Amino acid sequence: MKVKNCKFIEIPPIKDGIDGYLTVIEDTKHIPFEVKRVYFINHLTSKFALRGRHAHRQLEQVMYCMNGSCTVSLDDGYQKQNISLNSADKGLYIGTNLWHTMSEFREDCVLVVLASDKYKEADYIRDYQEFLRTAAK
Ligand code: TYD
Repeated sequence: MKVKNCKFIEIPPIKDGIDGYLTVIEDTKHIPFEVKRVYFINHLTSKFALRGRHAHRQLEQVMYCMNGSCTVSLDDGYQKQNISLNSADKGLYIGTNLWHTMSEFREDCVLVVLASDKYKEADYIRDYQEFLRTAAK
């Protein structure tokens, strides 16, 4: 990875032949934190849809694209990187102080996000200039 504070977390599915796949995600075993919240994003019908555009001070997250695909643009304040998420068994860990934007949602994309804490608006950095100042510290 070119940017800091991120990595792929791959979880191989249990393949049950004609009966499909089963994938298990256990916190602390697969996820590097205790999962306190799960949310999902769907109905991404517009090709102009754009989500994220913020960083978190403390929150850690792992994002799975359960269906379809999307692009996650990451920026650690120094380096930028675009990542294509297109497989249910390859999640993206997004650590702290990482500006992230999700776009280019395709084929009925469904994102499932596991988070290390409950929703706290105060944990968001939504101003890009403030993010750059925080990243430089
Ligand atoms: P936001 O995190 O900005 O969405 P995204 O990063 O996907 O673009 O959240 C959008 C709105 O939803 C915002 O008003 C806060 C609210 N929200 C909650 O109330 N609880 C949550 O757990 C999340 C993730 C968002």
